[in-house]
This record gives sequence, C-alpha cells and structure tokens, in this order.
Amino acid sequence: MASGTESSEAATAGPPPSVEEIRTTALAALVDADSEVVLDQWRVAYLGRKSDLTNVLRSISSLPAEDRKTVGASANQLRGALEEALAEKAQELKAGPSEIADALDVTLPGRRRRSGGLHPTTQTIREITDAFGAMGFQIAEGPEIEWERYNFDALNIPADHPARDQWDTFWLDSPDGKGRSDMLLRTHTSPMQARLMEQTDPPIRVVIPGRCFRYEATDATHEWHFFQVEGLAVDRGITFADMKGTLFEFARRIFGPERKVRFRVDFFPFVEPGAEMAIDCFKCNGQGCSMCKGTGWIEIMGAGMVHPAVLRNVGYDPEVYTGFAFGMGVERIAMLRHGIDDVRQFASGDLRFLSQF
Ligand code: DAH
Repeated sequence: MASGTESSEAATAGPPPSVEEIRTTALAALVDADSEVVLDQWRVAYLGRKSDLTNVLRSISSLPAEDRKTVGASANQLRGALEEALAEKAQELKAGPSEIADALDVTLPGRRRRSGGLHPTTQTIREITDAFGAMGFQIAEGPEIEWERYNFDALNIPADHPARDQWDTFWLDSPDGKGRSDMLLRTHTSPMQARLMEQTDPPIRVVIPGRCFRYEATDATHEWHFFQVEGLAVDRGITFADMKGTLFEFARRIFGPERKVRFRVDFFPFVEPGAEMAIDCFKCNGQGCSMCKGTGWIEIMGAGMVHPAVLRNVGYDPEVYTGFAFGMGVERIAMLRHGIDDVRQFASGDLRFLSQF
C-alpha cells in the first residue's frame, strides 16, 4: 500500500476515542440539545448501535485480558451516566423553559449596591476632633438637655446678664406645667467645660462635639439646631500663646498648611480676654472675594482664656491654673470647606445633597 493512502486513511478513521474522550464530547453536545429531535440525534450518535461507546463495549472481548475489566467497567459506567443525562435533559425539555433561566440575562450589567456614608456633619466632626486628637486632646460628650446652671450661671452668665440675650433658648416646662423649669436645650457646648472641670483635676485637654439648640427663625445661615465643637485646655502655666499656637495648627490641618490666622478681641462672658479667630480666605488667598465678602478673612470660631470667675465656680484656684477655651460651629466649617450655601441642607434628609459627600 502506498504510504500516501495509508496516512489519509488514518486521518479519517483515527484511533478510536477513549472512554473519557467520549464522555467529554457527549456531555458537551448534550448541553446544546434544545429540542426532542436534536435529543434523539444525540442518543443515536452517542448511545446508538454505531456509536463509539457501543464500539468500545463490543471490542472488550478482543482486548488483552488485563484491560478487559477496567475498560469494561468504565464503558458500562459511562453508558449509565449518558442514559441518565439523556433522561434528565428530556425531562428538562418537557418542562419547558424555566422561569429562572428566562429571567436571568447574564449579559445585563450588574446592579450596583448602593452603599451608605457618613453624614457631612459627622465627617466634619471627625475631622475636627482628629485634628485636636493629634495634638493630645481627648473627646468628651455632654447632655443635650442641660441645667440653666451649667448653660449660663457656671459660665459667668448670671440671670440678669445682657449676654443671655445672645442665646435665645428653648426652656423646658416646669413639672407643674406653669411656666419654665430650670432646664433647657443647651444653646452651646460650653456647659461641658464646667461639668468636666467639676469632675476632673487639671491637666485637661478636651474637645466636646455635640448638638445645640436655639430658639430662632431659620434662614440660609441660621438653624434652630446645629453642632458645635467645644475645646478646653487647663493646666499650670497655660498662656494665650498656647491658645494661638494650638488653634493655628488646627486651622492648618483643616484648611491647609498655607493658612494664616487672625485673632481679634471679642466678648464672651466665660473668657477673658476673649477673641474671635479668622483664617485668611482660602478661595482668594486673602485678596477679597464673594466667599470672604471682600475682606480676605473668614471667621471660624470664638476663643479666649478661661475667665477666673469660671475657674472659681468649679473650685479651681485661678492663681494656680489657667486655660483656654474655644467653640466653633460644625456646619459652618463644613459649609466653608465644601462651598455649601444653605445650612438647612444638613437636616433636610435630601439624598441629592447627602450623596455628594
Ligand atoms: N459658646 C460660644 C457660642 O456658642 C462659642 C465660644 C466662644 C466658646 C468662646 C468658647 C469660647 O469656649 O471661649 O457662641
């Protein structure tokens, strides 16, 4: 026989496929069978009289004795498996297209799970407290319902003091329902200064975030409830320079390392001297723009040296201890940082606003 004929014959017939090869091709072909006609063709091709599997089974007797057992067992096992797969597929086709398979379009893009986030106020509180935390300040919180004594008296704001007018107050009704009690919704976080000093001996370095309330009409820059972060540092020998250095460092951490700060005299009954701290406008770098209303400066907090009367009220000796205190509005800081123009957004619950942070 010419060698050319021999090789072409081999290409057509090839060596008979192994049991495992038959299994692979048969099962792969079954996946695509989508009608009873195709299924029947598959049965003929893989289980029929002329199928490779039948050929294998038929040839077993002619195999060397040592192969007979293993080939026979695996060929018979495959026949069982293919018959079972066929029956299953037939059942599937009879049941018709399954609802799940129909509903599952694997080519559709996945649905993104919407993740929540922290409220911009919470984020800002954390940034502020982190900045002071890095400078060794601890964090404390106090009650939102407060005694008149802590909110006003302990802070050197006596009942007849005109400064009380600055804090229009939500008073709680007295128990008998006639008139107001001596409890209120705190108008600032400063009462925690007095509470902490009463409970602790110096040294104290603490920041106090919390919600405050004021009985006033709302507009773009006023809310009846808002957050403040209070700060207090008391020890032997604390000076105004310590205060300036600490608050300067805070401003740089929150508003950028190139920030400048300005302190001007201001009045708060619980500090002496009192100051208002401003940063140079980070939008125009102090040139004057709409953000800083042309002044080049933006006020961010009140501060001062703790008033000797406040120290005495809590039982500290003002000859031994000195300290500084400060307080800032959280929403105001957030508004400046993010260019938010209406404080009422914070409590609006509007996802179009909230999801931007
Ligand atoms: N409690 C003041 C307010 O609500 C803010 C403040 C000013 C707090 C000066 C202070 C301070 O601790 O020293 O307007």
